[in-house]
Amino acid sequence: MGRLPRHVGIIMDGNGRWANLRGLPRVEGHRRGAERTKDIIEASLELGIDVLTLYAFSVENWQRPDEEVSTLMELLKVYLSKELFSLLNKGIRFRVIGDRSRLPQEVKEIICEAEKYTEKGDRLTLVTALSYGGRDEIVRALKNIISSGYKPEEVTEQLIDSNLDTSGLPPVDLIIRTSGEMRLSNFLLWQGAYAELYFTETLWPDFSKEEFFYAIQDFQRRERRFGAIMPASLKV
Ligand code: IPE
Ligand code: IPE
Ligand code: MG
Repeated sequence: MGRLPRHVGIIMDGNGRWANLRGLPRVEGHRRGAERTKDIIEASLELGIDVLTLYAFSVENWQRPDEEVSTLMELLKVYLSKELFSLLNKGIRFRVIGDRSRLPQEVKEIICEAEKYTEKGDRLTLVTALSYGGRDEIVRALKNIISSGYKPEEVTEQLIDSNLDTSGLPPVDLIIRTSGEMRLSNFLLWQGAYAELYFTETLWPDFSKEEFFYAIQDFQRRERRFGAIMPASLKV
């Protein structure tokens, strides 16, 4: 086993297409998709990954029909109330990133509760990106910095880092996107500056533990240079 990514981010895409292909309503795809997350969380625990960030709902997704938005919110509420003890027992710390001010009150409360209950979890940090947009997150961070009265010369990458929703988390090493789309759709723009990207045609409700392991192996074969020159190529 090679070096593991510390932080894996997943753009869980393709629920709607999965349902369409079967003549089912889109929401059924979301339901199956939510089930899938359990296997991937399990697999992350087995591997010993530190942070798993799941993109569940983007700021742009607020534009979808009300019925779809409310089903997604409902799914999250049901998931959290059903899984809270299991998260706690498995040593998982739950955390949400994104603009919470737009979330329904009940969702805000259940998230808050889950974050508090699982605060001591030290095996895996499970981050849910909800009402999340990378640009929106950066704008909110800058607003914070400006209203705290920092001078231009005091602005550093570390200061921005610590004002992002992901404050305290390592940068994302590997971003996986399902459903064949090859774009980031506003996911972890700052944190993913040097992330390795893995794209697969598989639709999220079909994404298995085996394919997750395969994506990790693929990551382990990559040579990460971070703009420098690797020792082996220095000889040339
Ligand atoms: C991803 O599946 C889940 C969310 C964006 C909430 P989609 O709903 O985007 O599924 P497709 O892309 O339409 O197939
Ligand atoms: C990105 O998927 C957001 C999530 C998976 C939650 P979208 O389906 O919203 O992205 P686009 O519209 O294809 O870029
Ligand atoms: Mg999509």
